[in-house]
Amino acid sequence: MSTPARRDGTPDRRKPARGGSVDRAVRARAAQSAERGNTSRGVRIGKKSPGAQKATPPRQVAQPPVVSNAKPARRQNVASAESGNHPKLPWGEGERLQKVLARAGVASRRAAEELIAQGRVEVDGLVVRGQGLRIDPRHAVVRVDGTRVVVREELVHLALNKPKGWQSTMSDDLGRPCVGDIVAERVAAGQRLFHVGRLDADTEGLLLLTNDGEVAHRLTHPSYEVAKTYLATVRGVVDRAVGKRLREGVELDDGPAVVDRFQVLELGEGRSLVKIVLHEGRKHIVRRLLSAVGHPVVRLVRTDIGPVALGNQRPGTLRVLGRDEVGKLYEAVSL
Ligand code: URA
Repeated sequence: MSTPARRDGTPDRRKPARGGSVDRAVRARAAQSAERGNTSRGVRIGKKSPGAQKATPPRQVAQPPVVSNAKPARRQNVASAESGNHPKLPWGEGERLQKVLARAGVASRRAAEELIAQGRVEVDGLVVRGQGLRIDPRHAVVRVDGTRVVVREELVHLALNKPKGWQSTMSDDLGRPCVGDIVAERVAAGQRLFHVGRLDADTEGLLLLTNDGEVAHRLTHPSYEVAKTYLATVRGVVDRAVGKRLREGVELDDGPAVVDRFQVLELGEGRSLVKIVLHEGRKHIVRRLLSAVGHPVVRLVRTDIGPVALGNQRPGTLRVLGRDEVGKLYEAVSL
């Protein structure tokens, strides 16, 4: 990954983010703004206030700055990062973009300014080059080099390696061990976490936990089709025809199911280890599919959800997803 280069803001060999014409317009507006004496204040964007006036996207290219009789700069909210469609924040609200980026772990404030100057930062779909832009992190969509950066401080995205025998629930009426026990301290501290989908009690492996409602909703929604990967130890020696059958589709009692990929990894004495990738989220789907082709599951581990991998995380442990993983997760569900 090229992330470290981005983190410290050193020059990047990739082409700049989209929006060159916006940049030109931004510079033209900045020049006009400076001409009026408005050199330091940012346009405030990202707040979704109903009824707020929408600005039209800048279309013009560099023109000589116009001396105008417009009102003093303090009242205008015009600055180097003309915001196109964004309602403006009331004066004094919002946070400086470089500060938001620094807090999100993208780079130091200084390096974040560099990223902005290099045209690598987008806010709500527009490239920002001017310094001083203020945004509302609760609503602004910020991307660096095209990858979404989650700037809402309160959002957490966690990967849990659920141990076998644990329920995928936040509490259990019967007092059985559940994932809620593993995140109990976080919940007690006020984090409103929920698990994204479920694993059977007997299934181990990757379970995502978050308080990010939108990403969780999309990850569990079939229309976003995020692939999940499982390793299954099954009874019997799996032959080649099994993969073909599974890829073509198998009729289950609640309708047909197909797998995207199927691979035999090991053949042992009366057992096989297979890898299976599918988008389906129906209950017991992997166990039912493998039973339907004559190979009941002995052990099942989920290893990947879209771009997030379990890796060598130990059972029962939690880890906070990295910024890149969260960015890819957002991308996987079109956010
Ligand atoms: N398929 C299953 O059979 N069980 C799980 O826990 C997940 C997918």
